[in-house]
Amino acid sequence: MLSLRLGYVLALAGLSSAGTVVWSGSFDNYQTPADFDKWSWANKVGAYQWYIHGDGPTSDYLALDPAYKNPAVETEAHGLKLTISSNATWRTDMERAELIPQTTANLGTGTLYYHFSVKREEENAPDPTLEHQVLFFESHFTELKYGVGTPTTDLQWYVGGTSKWGTDFVPGTWFNFAYEIDFDGKTVALWASTDGDDLVKVGDAISANTTTDSADFHVGVLRIVNRDPPEDWYFSGVYIESGDITTSVAGVTA
Ligand SMILES: *[C@@H]1O[C@H](CO)[C@@H](O)[C@H](O)[C@H]1NC(C)=O
Ligand SMILES: *[C@@H]1O[C@H](CO)[C@@H](O)[C@H](O)[C@H]1NC(C)=O
Repeated sequence: MLSLRLGYVLALAGLSSAGTVVWSGSFDNYQTPADFDKWSWANKVGAYQWYIHGDGPTSDYLALDPAYKNPAVETEAHGLKLTISSNATWRTDMERAELIPQTTANLGTGTLYYHFSVKREEENAPDPTLEHQVLFFESHFTELKYGVGTPTTDLQWYVGGTSKWGTDFVPGTWFNFAYEIDFDGKTVALWASTDGDDLVKVGDAISANTTTDSADFHVGVLRIVNRDPPEDWYFSGVYIESGDITTSVAGVTA
């Protein structure tokens, strides 16, 4: 009992409250893949808009499980496995499965930190020879890419279409990020770490066309080329923060 209590206290000690959460994309808002289907243009409920996906059931593209989260994230009980496949198409032939924040908050004012963690495994690994756009804005002023640039096996940070930083996207490791976006000064910087390590700034502020209508941050993956086999991507710890950045991956206390 004593050790359990101590563990609980230590776990809470990992949480911090540097900034204020403007929007939480915690996957704990959802218990089953079908819960994402409750959102529609006529019924804008939940944390995410869900319309960029194929014609199959949502369970073809989204799955929830404690094993799918970054264990270092303490504010979320389960994470998301997102699967793109030859039938994950929307409007074009490209493979796409993307969640969009559902919120009335202004996600494009002052300086905001867009937090998220991403992972891949050996099984159903993303193809490093094909271009993927990951966690991007409609105008692509900041995004991650995989399968392009040098080397294509790096997960790379792009600003306005140019690679600025990259890291070997090895399987089984969580890659944690925060886009630091100054919507007034029109710059973007990058914070990153792996697994349970604190975020550190890896990319200094760069001029960018920082603009969002608060409904064009794509939490997911777009692959240009439609071809078998399917790919699995894992996401966890998605939230947007104002104020000072929380560098602990554990998350922010309410
Ligand atoms: C879509 O593709 C996935 C992966 O190949 C498969 O599991 C699923 O059954 C397919 N869905 C439909 C509706 O064909
Ligand atoms: C900036 O992005 C907005 C929204 O996508 C677009 O309308 C505008 O043309 C872009 N401006 C520049 C200079 O690229």
